Amino acid sequence: MDEDMKDIPDQTEHTRSRYDAIANVYDFMEWPIEQLLFKKWRHELWQSAEGPDVLEIGVGTGKNIPYYPDDIHVTGIDLSPAMLKRARRNADRYNPEQVKFSEMDAEHLNFSDEVFDNVISTFVFCSVPRPIKGLKEAFRVTKPGGRLHLLEHMLSHNRLTAAVMKRLDAPIHYLLGVHIARRTVENVRRAGWQIETVEKRAYGGIFRRIEAVKG
Ligand SMILES: C[S@@+](CC[C@H](N)C(=O)[O-])C[C@H]1O[C@@H](n2cnc3c(N)ncnc32)[C@H](O)[C@@H]1O
Repeated sequence: MDEDMKDIPDQTEHTRSRYDAIANVYDFMEWPIEQLLFKKWRHELWQSAEGPDVLEIGVGTGKNIPYYPDDIHVTGIDLSPAMLKRARRNADRYNPEQVKFSEMDAEHLNFSDEVFDNVISTFVFCSVPRPIKGLKEAFRVTKPGGRLHLLEHMLSHNRLTAAVMKRLDAPIHYLLGVHIARRTVENVRRAGWQIETVEKRAYGGIFRRIEAVKG
């Protein structure tokens, strides 16, 4: 079944309320895995960003801000006002002129067609209620030939791990607003993107870096 079809209508509000609730502890919760894995991956990802105009979907608390290359301008959007508040505070410690933030739903981007050189997102399409819709919106606002760069966690290719993840998906989504058993590579393709590379990063392909182009 199409992953967008599995969702119930009020999921956007559910997702927003979950991230608003954890915004103050989010960086603390993520600290160990950030030090162990994510820091290095973020640095590599942002080294590939091609500007000048980059859209970051789901900026969260602004964990990518330290990795923005100097020669790009970033528009950062997020559904959660509480996460955005922390992102703004974080940006003030780096280069506040480089990024502007907006509260916005990835499924309804308030931008004209073909305005961004690249769209970048880290660990977000596990939370967007209708991921294919969000990825189609990313496609729409990207210039022809522009790229999508993602870091995501998704359903493992290991059968046993995948079975456990499917079992845990609903309770984890209820608690944290995150789906842990999505087929994100397939969702990117379904949204119209041409996949260029998929790199499996850790834990049986649970973490992957995806690069795709608007052909
Ligand atoms: C797991 S956090 C990742 C935050 C950040 N990208 C990072 O790497 O730390 C997911 C973020 O996606 C945002 N999000 C979820 N659904 C969204 C949507 N439909 N539109 C915009 N942002 C969304 C959440 O509010 C949250 O800040």
